[in-house]
Order: sequence, then structure tokens, then C-alpha cells
Amino acid sequence: MLTIALASDHAGYALKAQLVDELRAAGHTVLDLGPDSEASVDYPDFGRALGEAVAQGRAERGIAVCGTGIGISIAVNRIAGVRCALVTSGLMARFARDHNDANCIALGSRIIGVETARDCVAEFLSTPFGGGRHTGRVAKLG
Ligand code: RB5
Repeated sequence: MLTIALASDHAGYALKAQLVDELRAAGHTVLDLGPDSEASVDYPDFGRALGEAVAQGRAERGIAVCGTGIGISIAVNRIAGVRCALVTSGLMARFARDHNDANCIALGSRIIGVETARDCVAEFLSTPFGGGRHTGRVAKLG
């Protein structure tokens, strides 16, 4: 079981809430960094909070959600030591772990449905980093 931080903006709130419930039910420790309603907020604020939680070791993994996943992934990736992959399929999430050692993923609630989001999360949480030839490349990301 992992400690997983989740954050979103208003557009991602409903999907985030669903994933928070399901991850807790599965036995993970979940750090819900908000927001706690669909009132309009700015994704950079919540993306930064998620990136800092992972960079500081308060969570082992992070899941960010906004309308497209684009804005919040950019915000998360501004934090040093965080590798946030915007994924739209379980396959992308698997490669994000295997090749890129991603410690965060971003999901677009207006782009993918809940079933695909579940696939992404399942692959993100279960796939190990492949190491080998990928190790030096990931190190070059800083
Ligand atoms: C909010 O309307 C929307 O811009 C945001 O959720 C996200 O898609 C930005 O990248």
C-alpha cells in the first residue's frame, strides 16, 4: 500500500473525489490536497501543492486532475524532483512508470472517462521502473 496525494481544479474535482474514495477503499493512505468542491479555482495552486507533497516525501505518488490534464501537469512539473506524466490510457501510464519513473500522473476529466482513469491509476500504481538503459536518461531530467 502507498501514500498517494491527489489534487485537482474545479474541472477535475468529481473525478478526483471518485479516485480518492476508491483508493482509500483499496487500502491506500490518501492525502487529498483539494479542492473540496466544484467552485472555480486555479490549477497552478493545486498542482504546486501536489508537486511539493511528492518532492518533500509526504506522498510516494501523486495524481493530478484538471479538465485536460495539461495545465495541472505543467504546474506539477515546475517542482524539482517531480516527474508528472499526462496520460490518456493505461498503456501510457505503464510506460510512464517503466521508462520515465514518473512519480505523478495527470488526468484530463474532459478527455477520458472514469474507466480509463481507473486503468491509468492501476498501471501507475502497479508498474515498477524498468531501470537499465532508462536510469541515466531519467537522471538527466534532474
Ligand atoms: C478549466 O476550465 C480548465 O482550463 C482546466 O481544468 C485545465 O483544462 C487547464 O489546463
